[in-house]
Amino acid sequence: APGQLVDSRGRPLRDLRISVTDRCNFRCSYCMPKEVFDKDYQYLPHASLLTFEEITRLARLFVGHGVGKLRLTGGEPLLRKGLETLIEQLSALQTLNGDPLDITLTTNGTLLGRKAKALKAAGLKRVTVSLDALDDNVFRRMNDVDFPVADVLAGIEAASAAGLEQIKVNMVVKRGTNDHQILPMARHFRGTGITLRFIEYMDVGATNGWRMDEVLPSAEVISRLQPEFALMPLEPTARGETAERWGYVGQDGKHDAALGEIGVISSVTHAFCGDCNRARLSTEGSIYLCLFASQGYDLRSMLRGGASDEHIREAIAAIWQGRADRYSELRASLPDHSGPRTARRVEMSYIGG
Ligand code: GTP
Ligand code: 5AD
Ligand code: SF4
Ligand code: SF4
Repeated sequence: APGQLVDSRGRPLRDLRISVTDRCNFRCSYCMPKEVFDKDYQYLPHASLLTFEEITRLARLFVGHGVGKLRLTGGEPLLRKGLETLIEQLSALQTLNGDPLDITLTTNGTLLGRKAKALKAAGLKRVTVSLDALDDNVFRRMNDVDFPVADVLAGIEAASAAGLEQIKVNMVVKRGTNDHQILPMARHFRGTGITLRFIEYMDVGATNGWRMDEVLPSAEVISRLQPEFALMPLEPTARGETAERWGYVGQDGKHDAALGEIGVISSVTHAFCGDCNRARLSTEGSIYLCLFASQGYDLRSMLRGGASDEHIREAIAAIWQGRADRYSELRASLPDHSGPRTARRVEMSYIGG
């Protein structure tokens, strides 16, 4: 029956992450290091990107298979011209069970000041902003294009003022680079209604020179926060969630909703592949079944070859049913966390975070 699609490990398909561009105006070393993504780097030609109509058609077919959440990513999704038009088209889709579709966006925040209002008007529900430090020098170094932290904070303000709810901030933690920013970041966002999430630096892609000794385990994030803030574990909101939730404890010893919560995303030290319900649609229209996949399944040639909805629907079902990916679990089972030796992995800026 529709909506009951499961993969070979019994995992349903719930979340589609759509990369709308492989370009970004930042050069975070853990994602698009300058040495690789330099002025000679060949980005995808416009004709090979899926059009908004093509994206919407595929999204509709995925929603027909039980997807209830769409996340627009990149690269930097706000660099894609007219993105609000795509959001408008996606907002019109109907989920199987009649619940509203959860449409969100992962952005570096640089263009939010300019675009937040239009995004909200187009039907965007919420937004997640990447921010790795509050200290301006640390932040400028990490984005590697000398972009000031104040402009990202202004972007977050603009999102909030535009009425985007449930704003989240993602901080990738690299030991020795920005781990001293954990406490300042927590202090800054506590009690603002914005959920800060700490992400373990991952060995995604093939260019970031990942080393285990630069990973700061989430358990250590929590133990660094505990002396200053009382935190208690919270129940997951949904199955297969990436983040483990921790709530700030109030005077009465209970979670104080006004103080809010933080999250830790522990792909390296506590893999969460067991319930992973996420598919990724690359900028060029291929489906990837794992963030660490080296190969995708081309749907664009079906779209452009005149395939019927039914035909593409069946192809999506067959691809998901054949899925066995669980990269982070396999990596965790190796002594040095070195990761299974697979073919060259696709870059996160291409496949979407
Ligand atoms: P919410 O619905 O807001 O909770 O979003 P989310 O946690 O699904 O999405 P978000 O894009 O904020 O994810 C945060 C980060 O977690 C990403 O930027 C990745 O670094 C990491 N991440 C997301 N999905 C996966 C995944 O399937 N596997 C792994 N290993 N990491 C992931
Ligand atoms: N490790 C962990 N998170 C990463 N991101 C990008 N590269 C990495 C990495 N190597 C995350 C950033 C950003 C999102 C798009 O992906 O937090 O928020
Ligand atoms: Fe751009 Fe986000 Fe990658 Fe940084 S992490 S280079 S902001 S896509
Ligand atoms: Fe899902 Fe792959 Fe991430 Fe595991 S490593 S949670 S299977 S995307």
